[in-house]
Amino acid sequence: NPVRFSGVWRFHELLPFAPQSKIVTVGEGQTLLQQADEVAKYVGLNPGQLHLQYEGMNPSGSFKDNGMCAAVTHAGMMEAQRAACASTGNTSASLALYCSATRAMKAVIFIGSGKISYGKLSQALDYGALTVQIAGDFDDAMIRVKEIAKKLGIYLVNSVNPFRLEGQKTIMFRVLEALRWEVPDWIVVPGGNLGNSSAFGKAFSELYQHGLIDRIPRLAVINARGANTLHELVQKHGVKWNGGNVSMEPITQYNESMDRDGKRADTIASAIEINRPVNLNKCLRALEVMDGVVREVDDQQILDAKSQVGAGGFGCEPASAASVAGAKLLRSEGVIAPSDRVVCILTGHELKDPTATVAYHSSDRELFEKTLGSRGVTEANYANR
Ligand code: F0G
Repeated sequence: NPVRFSGVWRFHELLPFAPQSKIVTVGEGQTLLQQADEVAKYVGLNPGQLHLQYEGMNPSGSFKDNGMCAAVTHAGMMEAQRAACASTGNTSASLALYCSATRAMKAVIFIGSGKISYGKLSQALDYGALTVQIAGDFDDAMIRVKEIAKKLGIYLVNSVNPFRLEGQKTIMFRVLEALRWEVPDWIVVPGGNLGNSSAFGKAFSELYQHGLIDRIPRLAVINARGANTLHELVQKHGVKWNGGNVSMEPITQYNESMDRDGKRADTIASAIEINRPVNLNKCLRALEVMDGVVREVDDQQILDAKSQVGAGGFGCEPASAASVAGAKLLRSEGVIAPSDRVVCILTGHELKDPTATVAYHSSDRELFEKTLGSRGVTEANYANR
């Protein structure tokens, strides 16, 4: 039974929208929670207290497969012929893979021109997706795909799609399973479109309601400084979520002001180069449920943290390392204690976005400046510094 070998569908009782006969799976969710003592030292945690959840081990190389198997399953239940998304690269790679696996559905993907890494683009092309590059960035692509999906009746799988978030809940189920259901103190996750953070909030609130856990860990959502809508919203506009009184007004304004006064997202972590996160409201709810915090880290912090993750284990793509950089920041602030048990989610595989990695480690100063200099990264190769 292939359902049993999926790290998502073996939890199907906790995402009960799909009959077993309709389930689409390519063996997603066979991922690993790894204790990382070297990285713990870098972050400032006691030995044994940092675990890294390697979601890059998924079939298309990122955590997106957790949600995409669920969304494509639902699309099949709706008898959709085509499924579409806008993407910074990983969602599109995942959608393209699942559509090719069904053999019945065509993937239509929208990407900002020059905005996705070749690794991710090559996946979409090879899996046979109709790939449309549009002038602009992810935020522009998102607007276009919504319009076109509505007009042509194409099933939309961006994380506005609730079934994707159902699948992404299982990342937390597997983390807990690996920790023998001992609830950690912190879950730290990069924030882009804020689908993961929203899904994690839902996962923990449901587990708690079912009586399967007796407390809920705290959530830290980490923005890249160049794509920090959530952080700015929380800091400058004082959006609070304590006590269930999330004020939605500033959020609606944020979602509607396309370019935040002309500001465009810009970070080396291309996967999270997003200015208008589609799950902003749901993420605020997750922050409330999980007593969360939001921080931002710059590209230098991201690349330094990434080199530590690489040297200490499986490696990850730049966006993923925001979680480790964020944990280090929260440790230095004293928000996270050295004895806290922390789980950082590494969302994408090392090989997904290699350009920045090579530039960062290279002794070729010209390459370094060209790729990273404009982004305020001045120091190379932390591990050997
Ligand atoms: N990390 C990676 C590697 C990602 O690809 C993404 C999102 C995120 C983190 C952020 O996750 O959206 O749940 O907050 N990538 C999307 C894409 C936007 O199109 O592939 P989130």
